[in-house]
Amino acid sequence: MKRLMMLSAAALLSVTWMSSQVMAVEAVGDAGKGRVIFEQGFGDDVPACAGCHGMGGMGADDMGTPRLAYQVQKYIWKQLEDFAADKRMDNTMYQMNDIAKALTEEQRRDVAAYVHTLKTPFMGSDLDQMRKDGEEIGVGYKGQVIVEYGIGSRGVPACMSCHAFHGRSAGNMYPAIGGQRYVYLKHELEAFRLGNTTKSSDDDAARDNDPMAQMRKVAATLTDEDIANVAAFLTVARPATSGNPSAPRR
Ligand code: HEC
Ligand code: HEC
Repeated sequence: MKRLMMLSAAALLSVTWMSSQVMAVEAVGDAGKGRVIFEQGFGDDVPACAGCHGMGGMGADDMGTPRLAYQVQKYIWKQLEDFAADKRMDNTMYQMNDIAKALTEEQRRDVAAYVHTLKTPFMGSDLDQMRKDGEEIGVGYKGQVIVEYGIGSRGVPACMSCHAFHGRSAGNMYPAIGGQRYVYLKHELEAFRLGNTTKSSDDDAARDNDPMAQMRKVAATLTDEDIANVAAFLTVARPATSGNPSAPRR
């Protein structure tokens, strides 16, 4: 019996080892070169990304910037391509389009590879402080219901079905949305919702760069209250919990 247990432990270990080999993701660029761009910028037209996204790449609510740290690298790369081609408009600071254009294609890959490697300790938005400052913040547990189950009667799908447990990402085209900044989450969901009726080339508050309008169709089902609620849950949703500890796939 004891021997059997040892055997199955060894089998389990080798399965874990194999899956970690399969899950290792190839870098889309040179993270070392990307780091220099992230920390110092490049030439006259590219300011250091860290100036707005923070040294650890955690984003900031007062600037409306997103967390980039350990985001899916293919997703980051795609966004930089979309900004460079004006397929996605940055109406927050009107800078991302110019910055992405000023980088070469290779540099966009390098910086995407770098931010993905940033393993800054998890830190969502400080909702208590934002409430104290008088901001209206959604109700987290109501948001959790939407993330995990959706709202069948109104056709709201469970965010988890594409973005995985606690929004920790299902890899490749599906970004991590758990642990993202509250202000940024709200802004993007409103932008996707507007993108259902308005092109981003007509109104830069609209976002319509999601493949097959997947995210726009979801956002169309959300009320302002739903958006605030999911953002309040997601910003503090951790990628791994004791009940669901497996590492996120990227
Ligand atoms: C002047 C401030 C500023 C600087 C400098 C800046 N960003 Fe941004 N970035 C923003 C803002 C604001 C947004 C959100 C835009 C929006 O809401 O559409 C953003 C969004 C992004 C996104 C989209 C992330 C997502 O989750 O979809 C990426 C990727 C990004 N920035 C990468 C970079 C990189 C790489 C650099 C440096 C080369 C950089 N940024 C420099 C302000 C900045
Ligand atoms: C059918 C699949 C699908 C479902 C369901 C879904 N999403 Fe998405 N979502 C996507 C895809 C694909 C993208 C990436 C768009 C892109 O590449 O620009 C995305 C992007 C996002 C973004 C932008 C992330 C960033 O960093 O800018 C947010 C926020 C988001 N989703 C929130 C949600 C929420 C909240 C729900 C549930 C109410 C949800 N999603 C349900 C497919 C989905």
